[in-house]
Amino acid sequence: MSKSVLSGKGVTKVFGLGDKKTVAVDHVNFKFSKGELVSIVGESGSGKTTLVKMILGLLSPTEGDIYFMGKKRDIRTRKQKREYWKGIQAIFQDPFSSYNIFHKIDSVLMDCINMRGGSHLPRDEKIKMITEACGFVNLKYAELTNKYPFELSGGQMQRLMIARIFLLKPQILLADEPTSMIDACSRATILDMLLQCRNEVGMTIIFVTHDIGLAYYISDSVYIMEHGKFVEHGTADQVILSPTADYTQRLINDVPKIHAPWDFAKVASTVSAQA
Ligand SMILES: Nc1ncnc2c1ncn2[C@@H]1O[C@H](COP(=O)(O)OP(=O)(O)O)[C@@H](O)[C@H]1O
Ligand SMILES: [Mg+2]
Repeated sequence: MSKSVLSGKGVTKVFGLGDKKTVAVDHVNFKFSKGELVSIVGESGSGKTTLVKMILGLLSPTEGDIYFMGKKRDIRTRKQKREYWKGIQAIFQDPFSSYNIFHKIDSVLMDCINMRGGSHLPRDEKIKMITEACGFVNLKYAELTNKYPFELSGGQMQRLMIARIFLLKPQILLADEPTSMIDACSRATILDMLLQCRNEVGMTIIFVTHDIGLAYYISDSVYIMEHGKFVEHGTADQVILSPTADYTQRLINDVPKIHAPWDFAKVASTVSAQA
């Protein structure tokens, strides 16, 4: 088994008090390895985003511990947080939430280089790195320079997020339904870029989605989340081809065609009916 880059024991988040109490994440355990692509799958409201925020250090767990690179995580000070974020980054459902809207795109990307200890580099060198990162996601730096994030389209923003990741090269990338805002074609491209990024950097990707078919297609391992708990985890094949939890079975039944063999007779009759 390869080295664990991130793990959690009994990680729990409770919101509110008394009658208004919600146990959003309920004593989950997990262990993610270097270079692994892990999917966390569950329906809306199952606690995925809350768990992502705890892993990122944006919310503190009510209970439980998170371990980063084998050590218990301690991010109580601002300095410790900044250090932690060199190793762990995220792209969110809503790309607008990822940017400070008052910072121009140039400075957003410059900051990535500075964060990785490149602040001493000459400006030319930084521009070269930024141009390369933009090229990686099929954006033209010349068209972005001097613009603000809100001047971009949703698709461009999403690409810009990946350009940031390319520059930051974190050990762990959390992607919370990153493709929901864009069409299927760009979605495939974005996924492809993330996979390339992983291969280049050996990044661990934690992919959060409600789409079990997509999880099966891209993941090494899968965690199934229901009402704040992991009801099942294992390799993508184990979990999706031989599920043990009823909930997993239900999610799979909602996507009937992920591994059913094609019935060519039916396809042929549908095609001729349409002709
Ligand atoms: N800041 C919050 N305050 C109170 N309840 C919250 C908060 N954030 C999330 N929740 C609740 O926690 C549960 C899990 O939410 P979330 O983590 O967003 O699920 P998912 O990302 O799987 O859709 C939901 O019941 C949600 O209403
Ligand atoms: Mg969510």
